[in-house]
Amino acid sequence: MHRLTDPAIDQYCTEHSTPESELLYRLNRQTHLQTELPVMLSGHLQGRVLSMISHMIKPKTILEIGTFTGYSALCLAEGLQPDGKLYTIDNHEEQTELARDFVAQSAYAHQIIFKIGKAADILPQLTENFDLVFIDADKINYGLYYDLVIDRVNTGGYILSDNVLYHGDVVALETAGKNALAMHAFNQKIKQDNRLENVLLPIRDGIMLSRKK
Ligand SMILES: C[S@@+](CC[C@H](N)C(=O)[O-])C[C@H]1O[C@@H](n2cnc3c(N)ncnc32)[C@H](O)[C@@H]1O
Repeated sequence: MHRLTDPAIDQYCTEHSTPESELLYRLNRQTHLQTELPVMLSGHLQGRVLSMISHMIKPKTILEIGTFTGYSALCLAEGLQPDGKLYTIDNHEEQTELARDFVAQSAYAHQIIFKIGKAADILPQLTENFDLVFIDADKINYGLYYDLVIDRVNTGGYILSDNVLYHGDVVALETAGKNALAMHAFNQKIKQDNRLENVLLPIRDGIMLSRKK
């Protein structure tokens, strides 16, 4: 596995970014104590990036695919308009209990709406259009989720897709596993879609930032 950034650089970037709120710090810690795969959590640095992007967009509607313990949902919600809503989907109900607990303690309890089930089943049931979409669930289905949401993204809206460098394995396709191959196929797919402008940010595991023209 490639390391995308030197750990000392990661640490320096984190130390020179705004600290996590006390609530996010506690959620980060509880996720590490209570879940088997805490590495799935966005974490301090990526969380601040998500919050900053959301503040820049000032979305009225956000869709997140992949809630986990709610860390990224809480970060994205920081930029919501006062009457805005964030819908977050996960198929692992037990896992979202921590998310519900921490969202209830936050200022965004009335704005974050949980949807439990497979994203491919839930997405067609949603009636809203979105200013910002964060794709962060099973890697193999990113292309499907993209197809299901693209017509629901407002013109000038954004899609953020996480883990698109997949530990750097996307540059060594001959030895890459199925998730890295799926990420490469996704990156190629959206590169060829001229409805979008894309920039791939080498932050953490790679975030694709796409704007719908
Ligand atoms: C990487 S974690 C999300 C991390 C979270 N966004 C964060 O940054 O803190 C991926 C989540 O996607 C969920 N997931 C996986 N496959 C799914 C599917 N088919 N439909 C909905 N959720 C799914 C998993 O249960 C897991 O909680």
